[in-house]
Amino acid sequence: MDASALNTFYSPAQLQRWREAIPGRYSCRAFSGAPDAGQLSALHYAAQRVCLPGTRIAVAPCPENLFVRVPLVEKIQGATHYACLILDPKHPKSPTLAGISGEAFVLEAQSLGIGTCWVSGTYRRGAVDAPLEDGERVAAVIALGLPKAAEPPARRRKKLSQICQTAPEGWPFWAYQAAEAVRQAPSAVNLQPWTLSYAQRTLRLLGKRADSLDIGIAMLHMHAAAGDLRPHWAWGEGKCAAHLIVEEQA
Ligand SMILES: Cc1cc2nc3c(=O)[nH]c(=O)nc-3n(C[C@H](O)[C@H](O)[C@H](O)COP(=O)(O)O)c2cc1C
Repeated sequence: MDASALNTFYSPAQLQRWREAIPGRYSCRAFSGAPDAGQLSALHYAAQRVCLPGTRIAVAPCPENLFVRVPLVEKIQGATHYACLILDPKHPKSPTLAGISGEAFVLEAQSLGIGTCWVSGTYRRGAVDAPLEDGERVAAVIALGLPKAAEPPARRRKKLSQICQTAPEGWPFWAYQAAEAVRQAPSAVNLQPWTLSYAQRTLRLLGKRADSLDIGIAMLHMHAAAGDLRPHWAWGEGKCAAHLIVEEQA
């Protein structure tokens, strides 16, 4: 997929909803019950609506033994449903596209009051019951349910200065806000494997693995943050995953 297809794929209303959902989202590991019928049908609808080419999401009741307990990580308990994020590796950049689609789904769930936790490692492959088409593979599963906690826990995050190559206080406000939205994004093992640089109206997203779920998640957060400003995307090269350009006011 050409990155420019992302410019208009999501509507301004979706982007605004996701921008507003970013501060409240966290990786929920304790659930108190199931979403109601209205929330579930909205989730199924979102799964159809947010997926970029080469990716799809299936929502289903959560098998009891889906999540694996690992030392030092709080076990996921009480998830009533899960989303299976599926990609077709024949599509170029399918891990990044799956990260974008999956995080759009996560933020949509957050805006419906449903808790989520991305899981790409600690789940039993054999417990996943979503049928796969030829060549498809599961990129990750996402735990779903009503969150047990009333308040989100504190976030452990790098400082903005650690993920920006130059002082973001000197950047245009949109680029600063996009960097802050990336800072709040979830990542595997909370590695936050991204760096941002700004020059000549362009915000660049760099990562050790330029094609990955984590990079796609960061792109979706940048996109939501800049949603009002007619963002224009292009893929980068090497460690630069993507460029985001907006038309700045004089
Ligand atoms: C792509 C991805 C994969 C993840 N895989 C796992 C996993 O296998 N097991 C797990 O317990 N948490 C997993 N997580 C959750 C992260 O550990 C969590 O997002 C991170 O610690 C930041 O926490 P926060 O989302 O509450 O801010 C994953 C998150 C992402 C984005």
